[in-house]
Amino acid sequence: MQKTSDILWQDAQHQTLFAILDLIAQPESGADVVRHLHDYAESHFALEEHYMAALAYPERSAHIAAHDQFREEIASLLEQEADDAAFRAVVATFLTEWLRRHVFGIDKALEAFILASERK
Ligand SMILES: [Fe+2]
Ligand SMILES: [Fe+2]
Repeated sequence: MQKTSDILWQDAQHQTLFAILDLIAQPESGADVVRHLHDYAESHFALEEHYMAALAYPERSAHIAAHDQFREEIASLLEQEADDAAFRAVVATFLTEWLRRHVFGIDKALEAFILASERK
């Protein structure tokens, strides 16, 4: 049974992002998995940013700046070294740590704000 304090779409999408990063760390993965991460992360960030705009979230610009940093990391991975398995593994580890801090940091604050707004 799900905890009522979680936003289900946000929680499910975070799990998927971590799963894709796990795939990227595997030696047999390739540039197509990085492309999948790019597309999935973009749709996830766009949805969070949609909620932030719709609810006039006060921390919106800092949160979007954090998303933009992740977008830039993925873009450079796609453009430069996506065919290098060792490099992909290093970047996947870095992005996993980054995402963990984001998900348990400012995403939690956003989640609390959305839940409070929906109760009004
Ligand atoms: Fe976020
Ligand atoms: Fe998120």
